[in-house]
Amino acid sequence: MTLHQGAANAAAQPFPASVASERWMRWSHSALSASAAFWLIVMLAGQAVFAMYVAVFYGGATLAGDVERWNKVLPKGYGAGDAFGNAILALHLFFAVVWVLSGVIQLVPAIRRHLPALHRWNGRLYLCCSAALALGGLWLVWVRGGVVGDVGQHLAISINALLILGCGAKAWQAARSHRFSDHRRWALRLFVAASGVWFFRVGLMAWLTLHRRPVGFDAATFQGPFLTLLAFGSYVLLPLASLQLYFHAKDRRSPGIRFGAAVLIGGMTLILCMGAVAATMGMWWPRVSS
Ligand code: HEM
Repeated sequence: MTLHQGAANAAAQPFPASVASERWMRWSHSALSASAAFWLIVMLAGQAVFAMYVAVFYGGATLAGDVERWNKVLPKGYGAGDAFGNAILALHLFFAVVWVLSGVIQLVPAIRRHLPALHRWNGRLYLCCSAALALGGLWLVWVRGGVVGDVGQHLAISINALLILGCGAKAWQAARSHRFSDHRRWALRLFVAASGVWFFRVGLMAWLTLHRRPVGFDAATFQGPFLTLLAFGSYVLLPLASLQLYFHAKDRRSPGIRFGAAVLIGGMTLILCMGAVAATMGMWWPRVSS
């Protein structure tokens, strides 16, 4: 082919295949990043509201010397004569608030980039809080007992505790050995696993908003197949599987997979958004405002 013919071919093809596919690649990358940013904003804002509820409801009752108010929510909250159990529960609630605030600091990209020392120290705090929540939670479920839900839900949240401990250990190991890309992924898995308690509440409220009435569970005893399914879905399976899909879409240079993942993440985030508003208005706000 002469130079002249080559130029004529290029002119006849205004968008050569490689340029068009590069353009799709860029758009799909932007779509995936935008859906991930939307997800992170909803998660951090929703969890900040959750932490505010815990601080105001449980912390407010404690400061007012009315710890029995905890029992309006928890079947086995404050127990007279059970100083150790009460202390573990109080620490669990305290760590829940610190864990959320520490997570916000840890996951905001600007803070991570500009304040690396804060990221390191806050990261240690985040890991310690996650481990304390998991271990304290296991003790509350299996030793103190009397916890809301049935054995299926207790098994699901216990697997969640093991996932938190496992992901935390991997994130810590990777940071220690300077494998920062691995570290980021394990830290995100830890964040998602430890958000299980939030996914469970928000998922339940999203379901109730859509269906208007409990389906597959007894609201009085908080038991039934739907809740067991929701527990395994939110504590063990769905969030971690979705995160894995996101990693896969990021790694594969395929616009189709990236667009697909972006739509899925965007759709799930809209449901989380709805559930978070419903949980705030229907569950947490009435408790702190009464
Ligand atoms: C890291 C994430 C966790 C956070 C942020 C968290 C937060 C909370 C909060 C806010 C409550 C009070 C309940 C409410 O007002 O809705 C609570 C209670 C409780 N949590 Fe956790 N938790 C976490 C992990 C766990 C884990 C992994 C377990 C179990 C293995 C667990 C077991 C419990 C138990 C047993 C109660 C008392 C519930 C009852 O008596 O019915 N938590 N948690």
